[in-house]
Amino acid sequence: MNPLPNIAWIGDAATGHLRLLDQTRLPAEETYLDCTTVEHVYDAIKRLSVRGAPAIAIAAAYGTVIAAQQGPDAAPQACDRLASARPTAVNVFGALDRLRRVVPPTPDALLSVAQAIHDEDRQACHAIGHNGLRFIDALPVQARGVLTHCNAGALATGGIGTATAPMYLAHQHHKPFRVFADETRPLLQGSRLTAFELAAAGIDTTLICDDMAAHVMQRGDIGLVITGADRIARNGDTANKIGTYNLAVLAKHHRIPFVIAAPLTTFNPDTPTGQDIPIEERNPVEITNAFGKPTAPTAEQLPGMNTYNPAFDVTPAELITAIVTDQGVIQPVHQDTIEQHLQLN
Ligand code: MRU
Repeated sequence: MNPLPNIAWIGDAATGHLRLLDQTRLPAEETYLDCTTVEHVYDAIKRLSVRGAPAIAIAAAYGTVIAAQQGPDAAPQACDRLASARPTAVNVFGALDRLRRVVPPTPDALLSVAQAIHDEDRQACHAIGHNGLRFIDALPVQARGVLTHCNAGALATGGIGTATAPMYLAHQHHKPFRVFADETRPLLQGSRLTAFELAAAGIDTTLICDDMAAHVMQRGDIGLVITGADRIARNGDTANKIGTYNLAVLAKHHRIPFVIAAPLTTFNPDTPTGQDIPIEERNPVEITNAFGKPTAPTAEQLPGMNTYNPAFDVTPAELITAIVTDQGVIQPVHQDTIEQHLQLN
C-alpha cells in the first residue's frame, strides 16, 4: 500500500517546515498545508487537518522544531501551546514530554527526537498489524465482515494505522475478509477517510451510516469490531471517537468480539478510569452546519435550540474483548492485565 504522505518534515532543522495533508479536504481534494509557525501547527490540529491520536503527537513534535528556530526559549512555550489544542488523545502529551526533556532544545536535537517519534509510530503500527492478524484469521466463515469506526488508519498515524493495520496485512496475505466502515458523524472521518484509504488500497470496503451498525450485526454480516483509541485508562476503559461505545454495546448483544488496537503511547496509567478522561467538546456548528450546509436550526434562529457535541466517548473495559498493541495482545482487559502488559509492577 502507498498511503498519502500525511505528515512530512521538509528541509533541514534550522530552516525547514512541516507539511501536512489537509484531511478536512479529503476525499475531494489532496491539498497540503505548509506550517512555518507554531500557530499554524496548533490550528491544523485544532481544526482536524491533522487528526488521530498518533498523528497529532507526531505533528506537535515537529511543531517544537519550528518553535526552536526562533531560539531556545521558544520550544517549552510551544509544548504548552500544542498540548492545549485537543485534550482527549494522550499520545501528544507523552511526545511533548519527550521533547521537553531535550537539553539544549536546538532545532537539530528536537528534529531527531521528532523523527524518532514518527518512525517509532510507523513501526508500532506494523507490530499492531501482526499482533492483530489473529482476529481476522478467527473470523467465522459466514461472518467475514470487520466493522470499524472513525479513522484509525494510515491517515491517523505515522504508518499503516492501528485498527486498519491488521486489515492491510490481511489484505497483503490474501486473507478473506471485508470491511464495513461507519461514516462517523458529525465530521465523517469514516466515510471521508477510512472508506477512502481502504478502498484505494484495494480492500473490499462497504460504507454504512452510523445508525446501520445494529442492522448489519443482526443480519450476521459482522464477525469482528475493531477500532482505535485516543486514551486508555489504567483500568482498560478506553476513549475513542464518539459512537464507539454504541458499537461495543451492540457487539456484546450480538456476541461479536470488540477489539481495540493502539500503540503503548495511547495508554495513560496516570488516568485511573474512564471517568477521569477529559472529553473534548467541539463547536456545535459541526452538527448544525458541518460542511457548509445547514442541517439543523441554530440557536440564533431558534432560541432554546441546544446542541451537545462531545468528540469522544468511553467504552468500559468490561465491553472490550482484547486490546492489540505493538507489544502483543491484552486479553482479558482489566487493570491487572494492563499493568502486566505495561510492566508497571
Ligand atoms: O477526532 P479525531 O478524528 O482525531 O478522532 C480520531 C479517533 O477517534 C481515532 O479512532 C483515534 O485517534 C485512533 S487513531 C489511530
